[in-house]
Amino acid sequence: MINIALPKGRIGSKSYRLLEQAGYPCPEILEPNRKLTFVNEEKGVRYFWVKPSDVAIYVERGAADVGVCGADILREYEPDVYELLDLGIGRCRMCVCGEKDFFENPEKTLKIATKFPNIAGKYYEEAGRDIDIIKLNGSIEIAPLLGLSDIIVDIVETGNTLRENGLEVLEEILPISARFICNKVSFQFKNKEITQMRDKLSYCTVQKM
Ligand code: PRP
Ligand code: MG
Repeated sequence: MINIALPKGRIGSKSYRLLEQAGYPCPEILEPNRKLTFVNEEKGVRYFWVKPSDVAIYVERGAADVGVCGADILREYEPDVYELLDLGIGRCRMCVCGEKDFFENPEKTLKIATKFPNIAGKYYEEAGRDIDIIKLNGSIEIAPLLGLSDIIVDIVETGNTLRENGLEVLEEILPISARFICNKVSFQFKNKEITQMRDKLSYCTVQKM
């Protein structure tokens, strides 16, 4: 049995659809219910829904053999897992954003609000910039509007949230998409099943692109 952690929310049902196309269906998962685990005995898979930021924790600790996780989470927390495949879904960009007329004073410490302190920290560390990171948990776009920070480091998908709040992309840090990840021990002990799953998924993502 392969245990698969799926992220609730935006990319959750898309990633299930890919796995379904790849030959691992479990239709009950899309029915309106509050269940969190779903088994297809015949195909040898057990799915479960977890918070997107928790997928990598389940996989790293082996509670899940594989899972679907955004590259933003992987770069931020650097979990000790294998990244087996870029699924090509959930595409967006990690960006530095600010108010349209933002002028950066190089003499002053730059205040950055973000959900991703490691990504932001590394980016500015490389540039040798003096920064102050303010870790928030959501609605990051408000921070510069209220003067909590000078700029933000956040995910931009359509750009609607920025536009509707008078902000814009100042710099792009990295492209993001959903990745198929795997526990390192599982990859050894369930190698045949997991490699097969990766290859079938790979075929489905190539077909889609
Ligand atoms: C994410 C992200 C941006 C927005 C980007 O926030 O943090 O705010 O989506 O999408 P867009 O470019 O299509 O507008 P989310 O909705 O996940 O909420 P949160 O930041 O409050 O967690
Ligand atoms: Mg947001």
